[in-house]
Amino acid sequence: MADMKHEIARRRTFAIISHPDAGKTTLTEKLLLYGGAIQLAGSVKGKATARHAVSDWMELEKQRGISVTSSVLQFEYDGYCINILDTPGHQDFSEDTYRTLMAADSVVMVIDAAKGIEPQTRKLFKVVARRNIPIFTFINKMDRDSRDPFDLIDQLEKEFGIGTYPMNWPIGSGNDFKGVFDRENRRILAFEQFKKGQSKLEAIECDITDTEKLDSLIGPYLRADLVDQIELLDGASYDFDLEQVRTGKLSPVFFGSALTNFGVEPFLESFLKLTTPPLPRNTVEGSVDPEDDNFSAFVFKIQANMNKAHRDRLTFMRICSGKFERNKEYFHVQSGKSMKLPQPQQLMAQEREIVDEAYAGDIIGVFDPGVFSIGDTVCSAKNKVTFEGIPTFAPEHFAIYEQVDTLKRKQFVKGMTQIAQEGAIQIFHEPESGMERVIVGVVGVLQFEVLEYRLKNEYNVDVRKTSMPYELIRWIEGDNIDVKKLNLTSDTKLVQDFKDRYLLIFTSEWNINWALQKNEGLILSEFSNN
Ligand code: G4P
Repeated sequence: MADMKHEIARRRTFAIISHPDAGKTTLTEKLLLYGGAIQLAGSVKGKATARHAVSDWMELEKQRGISVTSSVLQFEYDGYCINILDTPGHQDFSEDTYRTLMAADSVVMVIDAAKGIEPQTRKLFKVVARRNIPIFTFINKMDRDSRDPFDLIDQLEKEFGIGTYPMNWPIGSGNDFKGVFDRENRRILAFEQFKKGQSKLEAIECDITDTEKLDSLIGPYLRADLVDQIELLDGASYDFDLEQVRTGKLSPVFFGSALTNFGVEPFLESFLKLTTPPLPRNTVEGSVDPEDDNFSAFVFKIQANMNKAHRDRLTFMRICSGKFERNKEYFHVQSGKSMKLPQPQQLMAQEREIVDEAYAGDIIGVFDPGVFSIGDTVCSAKNKVTFEGIPTFAPEHFAIYEQVDTLKRKQFVKGMTQIAQEGAIQIFHEPESGMERVIVGVVGVLQFEVLEYRLKNEYNVDVRKTSMPYELIRWIEGDNIDVKKLNLTSDTKLVQDFKDRYLLIFTSEWNINWALQKNEGLILSEFSNN
């Protein structure tokens, strides 16, 4: 068991969040490079797992021309086993993006130094903040003109209500970018771009009071600024407190440039030391320790129909305790059945391979004939637990769907219901009405396209879509509320979800405030805890 404990303790599972174009992909690539470089040097995962042929679902996905998969990449670095959860962004932003955050133990937030916090970062932050997990900030693109670094950290603190602790401090930006001052080691990491897109990092021991040396390194003008700024930081910023970092109250901030690979490795090293290994997770029965001998995992994502002929689904689960072994039977709590998990896989530096064992902190994908739902628990039959489900996140786009051919009603209802059960869309209906007109809510508009594609290809149903003007949804909470008697604006709509819970959909924040003001005792929630 010492072996299992060691394996779990060296795991770091995190997600990178950002607004499109801030540099998430570039940073991920650079991180993988460090993993890859080390693998090339010979310390590859030392296990004798035979590589099995991988399925062709990626190919299928390519043919479909839409990417809806968020992947999990595992690599080794300096004795750590790192799992990076990729959160879909851009057009394929969806509920999966949010759910993936439930599987992470910490988050790296990439911010464009010229832009500061942007809308998608805001949305993702809200979800992360609920979990009190460590949040690290990488302020990227310092090789371009940036906003004032004090403004940037001020914005983080004010908008997100967290403390920040700059681990390093930039010296200039854009053409004047000279590197960063490493606050812990009191040295300068000098930046030198020797080729477009590539740079050199040189660590130079330098006392901040050594005027002569600093002048020769960064010039008198930047030196004067740096000395003032470091003095201000040392005097006025938050103290470093690991406990605060580990509970998400204090975000360590790193300035760097992913594209030129400046500051990425120092960031990675610091991050790995400061962030947490897998931590206990809550279940209905109490908290489960990752080092518990009994295996447990929860489903956070279902990737449907990779292979049309078989209606296979790939179900991703996050292991929360113990060790997974390929040939063992496990218990699926929601169906009450024991089973072997078919074709368990992991994605390692872009290659998918069958895994024989995995540990708490890891993500595995298993083929699933349709038994799993989002939030389900799989565990050892010896110690049955049930994880506390995954919240339902508020969709932001709504449309009414009807079938074109009324004779296809059965297929339409089946398709809609199954796709909603997988968590690919959310469905609502008007109170007391059936499934003739289904109100579909999604977080990202690509989900509409995926829905239409799947209804046509898998269920052979053509649909008619009518867009709706609503953008906000809130679950109704609060006792003694008579939903039928609510005082609402004419463009607010009452709907029910598939569990028949009541919700309101709104066209603006203004209407939400109106509803709250006019209806005493009404509580509206942005998330629904299942
Ligand atoms: P994303 O995943 O967050 O959407 O961002 P991504 O990494 O794709 O980066 C977006 C663009 O920003 C890319 O340019 C990338 O090269 C650039 N970029 C990322 N990090 C840095 C950095 O540290 N400095 C600079 N100067 N640029 C950076 P692109 O889309 O390929 O456009 P192009 O610039 O190559 O034309």
